[in-house]
Amino acid sequence: MAKKELLLHAVVAPTQTVIVSAYDTEGKADACTLAFYMVSSHLPPCVTIAINATQRRKTLRSILASNAFVLGFPDIRQVNETDYLGVESGYNTNKLANIGFNTCEARTVHAPVINNLLLSLECEVVHTVTIGSHIQITGEVKNILADEYILNDKDKIILERLRPIIYDEEQQRYLCLGSPIADAFRSGAELEKDQDMLEDEELEMPEIIRRPY
Ligand SMILES: Cc1cc2nc3c(=O)[nH]c(=O)nc-3n(C[C@H](O)[C@H](O)[C@H](O)COP(=O)(O)O)c2cc1C
Repeated sequence: MAKKELLLHAVVAPTQTVIVSAYDTEGKADACTLAFYMVSSHLPPCVTIAINATQRRKTLRSILASNAFVLGFPDIRQVNETDYLGVESGYNTNKLANIGFNTCEARTVHAPVINNLLLSLECEVVHTVTIGSHIQITGEVKNILADEYILNDKDKIILERLRPIIYDEEQQRYLCLGSPIADAFRSGAELEKDQDMLEDEELEMPEIIRRPY
């Protein structure tokens, strides 16, 4: 099929929708919805978010002032609340109170944990960099709070119970996860043709990069 060159834009479909929360300089909790979120390091565990610095974003200001944030994962049943936190600003109203969400202070950083969310990462800001319109903020995860309901007996998160909200930027809509389709790090193994060659390449990488998650 013929290929078409598209108008330049960062294609982000799909991404997981998260809620980032922080205290402002008066100690008031605010939160906003983000789709620009990624895991940026395993050791130490770090996540990176990107917030538009060319627009008024109260949460951005709060994070930079407090050097901390909490990343929360909403459940598909909280899709309307999640959308609301992404269209209204904490500069205008008390968003969290308006949707009946309540918070408590994180144990490890000065940032609010939203009690209504099943999973929260308490993060200390370790790096910021501006890329175009957005400030990328990397937070080192200092504590993870998970509702027991979403954990298996090995304390691994069961995604079918977390039920994350997937955001489709191309068509501006929310989706839910589908069914598992294959085992990761296994399903590709049978396609491996030249094992020796792959092992040689791996040896050149530092130990920390070769380690499988
Ligand atoms: C689904 C969704 C995803 C969003 N993702 C981002 C994002 O990654 N970065 C960003 O700067 N704003 C993002 N926004 C917009 C902010 O959440 C929005 O501007 C919010 O009102 C800011 O609130 P605040 O002023 O209280 O911080 C998103 C909004 C929605 C609805």
